[in-house]
Amino acid sequence: MVFPEYRPRRLRKNSAFRALISETHLRPDQFVFPLFVVPGKKIRQEIPSMPGIFRLSVDQLAAEARECLKLGIRAVILFGLPEKKDGVGSGAHAKNGIIQLAIRELKNTVPELLVITDVCLCEYTDHGHCGCLIDNEVDNDATLEILAKTALSHAEAGADMVAPSDMMDGRVAEIRAALDENNFQEVPIMSYAVKYASAFYGPFRDAADCAPQFGDRKSYQMDPANSREALREATLDVDEGADILIVKPAVAYVDIISRLREEFDLPVAAYHVSGEYAMIKAAAERGWIDGDKVMEETLLSIRRAGADIIITYCAKEMAKILAERR
Ligand code: PBG
Repeated sequence: MVFPEYRPRRLRKNSAFRALISETHLRPDQFVFPLFVVPGKKIRQEIPSMPGIFRLSVDQLAAEARECLKLGIRAVILFGLPEKKDGVGSGAHAKNGIIQLAIRELKNTVPELLVITDVCLCEYTDHGHCGCLIDNEVDNDATLEILAKTALSHAEAGADMVAPSDMMDGRVAEIRAALDENNFQEVPIMSYAVKYASAFYGPFRDAADCAPQFGDRKSYQMDPANSREALREATLDVDEGADILIVKPAVAYVDIISRLREEFDLPVAAYHVSGEYAMIKAAAERGWIDGDKVMEETLLSIRRAGADIIITYCAKEMAKILAERR
């Protein structure tokens, strides 16, 4: 079919035609909204590099969760800032740790909301690395046990799903075994299967106070130059029992999302990370771009690449825009 027989503009004539042939859709129930939980009371503190995103104390969570539900967002992922940090991240699996308290509060007040927990040690270690150290190196196998303990403590507190983001080898199998042995066979694992050593995590590290105190995360997170390696990482996690695969970051890695979508039949999630959010906000604030439109276009690109789920700081704003349109 060539011009003049075929004229693609025929189907772009008005918004009803455009809606009729629209291939990709955004729905709030595809979004997961990240929440940062801090010790204390009545705290609602905006994160400077992430306008519109707040650190919340436990007593503020129910209201935030209800707002999400009202907007059609049915899942949140929790990150915690503990009272105290130590070398081995003990706060991550403390019975009354910040995340454990947050999970109980949310499940008590808004039980229908899915509570997903990030399983990692970097917010809980004084050195800021995602595992425990032996001779200043993150020790893979020693870390596995702590991660499994952490995931289990989240399940015990009532988490609906756990999401390991540490990038240690073998952690999905270790966590699956710990959950199964303790009668949490029904708790799924959403694995950060493909997580790159990315500079796009900058604002998050301020928000969660988890920047590494020396070195970087390149010995455990992936090299941005690699894509075949992403398939090997995902294959491992699938074989170890992952239920959902995450690619992170999202926009700079849409090719990876699309390869995972083709190669695996598990649900694929994309983490649209803090730096990706901050860039939209910063440019919009200067009036250089239309923030709402760029946000929507960005989220569409992630869906178009093949992500079923998007973990995004834009969730509430985008849901509001979608609701107003209807
Ligand atoms: C914990 C973790 C990080 C993010 C999610 N979980 C930080 C990191 O690995 O340095 C980043 C999320 C974001 O940037 O929005 N390891």
